[in-house]
Amino acid sequence: MTTVETADKEIFARRESEARSYCRNFDTVFTSAEGSTMTDADGRTYIDFLAGCSSLNYGHNDPDMKAALLDHIAGNGIAHGLDMYTDSKAAFLKAFEELVLWPRGMDHKVMMTGPTGTNAVEAAIKLARKVTGRKNVISFTNGFHGMTLGSLALTGNHGKRAGAGGVSLNDVTRMPFEGALGDDVDTLQIIESMLANSSSGIEPPAAFILELVQGEGGLNAASPEWVQGIARLAEAHGALLIVDDIQAGLGRTGSFFSFDNFGIVPDMVTMAKSLSGFGLPFAALLIKPEHDIWKPAEHNGTFRGNTHAFVTARIALEKFWADDRFRHQIALKSQVLEERLLGIAARIPGATIKGRGMMRGVDVGSGELAGEICAEAFRNGLIIETSGAEDEVVKVLAPLTTPMEQFKEGLDILESAVDTILPLKVAAE
Ligand SMILES: Cc1ncc(COP(=O)(O)O)c(C=O)c1O
Repeated sequence: MTTVETADKEIFARRESEARSYCRNFDTVFTSAEGSTMTDADGRTYIDFLAGCSSLNYGHNDPDMKAALLDHIAGNGIAHGLDMYTDSKAAFLKAFEELVLWPRGMDHKVMMTGPTGTNAVEAAIKLARKVTGRKNVISFTNGFHGMTLGSLALTGNHGKRAGAGGVSLNDVTRMPFEGALGDDVDTLQIIESMLANSSSGIEPPAAFILELVQGEGGLNAASPEWVQGIARLAEAHGALLIVDDIQAGLGRTGSFFSFDNFGIVPDMVTMAKSLSGFGLPFAALLIKPEHDIWKPAEHNGTFRGNTHAFVTARIALEKFWADDRFRHQIALKSQVLEERLLGIAARIPGATIKGRGMMRGVDVGSGELAGEICAEAFRNGLIIETSGAEDEVVKVLAPLTTPMEQFKEGLDILESAVDTILPLKVAAE
């Protein structure tokens, strides 16, 4: 068996593509993980406030999901079945129907897309265009929807768009998200006027796609009124409403969907990241039945529906979403998080807190400062990343299951990182 010593890190520089990213900030070789703790090859432990960028909302190696998966494998359960009918797919769909759809009065069909979030987004915009016969899709400033060309066209981030090599990223109109033009500017009114103006040059949209909290774009959180306004506009203009819940869903903002209690029912919802519950690749698109006009195999793919993920995803639903206990725990941690981040923001001139639920951070005003705070936190055993157009937001994405004591310990490390870095920055200025 090949073993990896810490000293062997050069293999990555020598052999892995320059496209690698997170490992550059967290420059150690990880070997195991449990709950909210990751351990490296030197036996050093880290508190994980990144959670696979919200793919590990239930922590690493949840014992119940692991046991179910090990049983499935030991019993020669299907590992890969294209999109054939399997017992594990049936069990997942039943649990999803009973625990997620029916309690919300939703009757959406579940489309298994390729296993990454971007594939669910591609499927959503393809279907919206097919349903409406229109090409244009409205997305929002600072929105992030993935890296394949269709999703990238919707994505605002200039660095990510640059990776497309100059091909057209077309058939998208970008509108200002809530607050994007300053607190006093009503972006909803601007969007409404633009769409009402037959000489605005904007083609009638097939869809609006939005994140209710912009995960990569700086944790901008939309208000229920604004989201309802977008839903009204979509309806008025014959466009579909797509909520991209890939990062904000699965409890991250406090409830199963980020739009729970927002008074909207999206035509489509993209899901990925924590859907498997275990960090396994798995994505899906929820579609109102009347829009499910796909012909068989029209959005095909070899890995649609990860059978191992069906097993863990079902356990995740049954364990965490069968009653209100988990939601209540998230609410308690969200409150602690808000208080602590307000305290941190108060130490930094001009800093503000962003986001909602357990998807929160501090806008410290510059990417450089945010990066230095995260690097100092990592030196002290906390894995934490930035978000925002200039990476100016220190973003807390702890697993939602993090025990309260460990959660506070992680926040202590973050707070001391700020206390260490700030005076150095002030002295250097
Ligand atoms: C809101 C949102 N949509 C889409 C994606 C793309 O998902 P994936 O990286 O699995 O393709 C992401 C990833 O960060 C995301 O945050």
